[in-house]
Amino acid sequence: MHQTIAVLDFGSQYTQVIARRIRECSVYSKIYHYSTPAKVLKADGVVGIILSGGPSSVLSPKAPVPDKGIFKLGVPVMGICYGLQLMAHCLGGKVANSTHREYGHGYLKIKSANALFKGLPRKLKVWNSHGDRVIKLPKGFKIIAETENSEFAVVEDVDRRFYGLQFHPEVHHTDKGIEIVNNFLKKVCRCKGDWSMSDLISQIVENIRKTVGDSRVILGLSGGVDSSVAAALIHRAIGSQLTCIFVDNGLLRLNEREYVIDLYKRNFKIDLRVEKAGALFLRKLRGVTNPETKRKIIGRTFVEVFYKSIKSIGSADFLAQGTLYPDVIESVAIGGNQAALIKSHHNVGGLPKKMKLKLLEPLRELFKDEVRVLGAALGLPKEVVWRQPFPGPGLGVRVLGEITRAKLRILRNADAVLQEEMMKSGYYYKLWQSFCVLLPVRSVGVMGDERTYDYAIAIRAVESADAMTADWARLPNDLLRTISSRIINEVKGVNRVCLDLSSKPPSTIEWE
Ligand code: XMP
Repeated sequence: MHQTIAVLDFGSQYTQVIARRIRECSVYSKIYHYSTPAKVLKADGVVGIILSGGPSSVLSPKAPVPDKGIFKLGVPVMGICYGLQLMAHCLGGKVANSTHREYGHGYLKIKSANALFKGLPRKLKVWNSHGDRVIKLPKGFKIIAETENSEFAVVEDVDRRFYGLQFHPEVHHTDKGIEIVNNFLKKVCRCKGDWSMSDLISQIVENIRKTVGDSRVILGLSGGVDSSVAAALIHRAIGSQLTCIFVDNGLLRLNEREYVIDLYKRNFKIDLRVEKAGALFLRKLRGVTNPETKRKIIGRTFVEVFYKSIKSIGSADFLAQGTLYPDVIESVAIGGNQAALIKSHHNVGGLPKKMKLKLLEPLRELFKDEVRVLGAALGLPKEVVWRQPFPGPGLGVRVLGEITRAKLRILRNADAVLQEEMMKSGYYYKLWQSFCVLLPVRSVGVMGDERTYDYAIAIRAVESADAMTADWARLPNDLLRTISSRIINEVKGVNRVCLDLSSKPPSTIEWE
């Protein structure tokens, strides 16, 4: 069994980030509800406890408090922000409301040598976000670092191995934050750091087995990274109890359906139902030009097809989704309902409630880059693990205006040329997204001795970290020339290629 660090969640928006930093230090971490009894932590063999931050004030009568027994387990405890205030409050110190909230950067000065800051500079830029502050330390504690606004920025009880940090070491804006966490784990809790992502696979697989038992699970496979990794994990856990549904909405890229079938059905031997619903989608989209209406029709038709497909399978108990942590809005609702609130999934959010499917979300504690590492460890090919995002409505929002079979064919062929060149040049993996858009205009050209009157294709290639903002990619001229001449020469119906030079905002990545 691996050494476990318990993260007690007091409702911080960073609880999952703390758990993630611990994983980055090759140590296993488990998030517990703040009220978890000390005897449960003891039975789980935890070797250290981190108290997360949280939005509450310890001075409020409704403040979430831990079982005080956790301070008597003999294991190191590190309180972050609210966690520090809790330690002070629970162990005999004093906390007061601040007249002003300290929010943003501060400079931490380390005053005395200690395990937490071993090997680190004496001055560090740290990130704060707190209202209350400690004004008197409990017995046994001393100050080991301060900021300009906070005398008690870091405190230590060296005998009991208790640490309290007023700032957030887990966020990126704190210098050497991960090193501070690493020191707590390795130097204070004496963790070996022998845990790895392949251990995470076994743990997730075991959890899925426990949760699902011998029930049936349905998963909507899109071919994107998240649903692919979720499918591979669940399949490893429960094999034939998993059925995946792939809806071909007629708005997919060239050979996409065949690729997905080949990968999952033939290579992974996953029970995959393919719903060939292209004709239905195109019929419903006939004559529609408004982008929002197109999106709504595509979304509604997807739910309709997916629902019918589930019913045809017979009974199912779980609906699996590749929800990631950034999709989860809140981890713990303090005081009230402890159930996590989740964003509805783009595609299956509209499934009828009467289906009473329970959600299975094996990736909900993970971040995208961790999911990619898992995918690779599960044997998914690089093209899937590092796949660029593709919108649910597919080419439906890239054929501008009315969607017809003829236009889809043109866009598919042009996009295939672009993708091939992006792969060949290595740019595919350097960009957030690169794709073609079919413009609803025709222009005059000349090919051989003949005049043409054909469509124009726009190339959209962007760099981005999270799709919230994006900048157009500076692709080499030679690459652009090859793409343009290949599209015009090889794709019948196109005689002009344009380059989209807009950033987001004010533009968006997709055109519709
Ligand atoms: P925009 O166009 O809003 O896109 O800048 C931001 C990112 O989201 C993707 N996108 C979607 N993904 N369903 C999805 O699953 C959708 O309806 C959808 N619309 C846009 C887009 O490709 C980009 O990565």
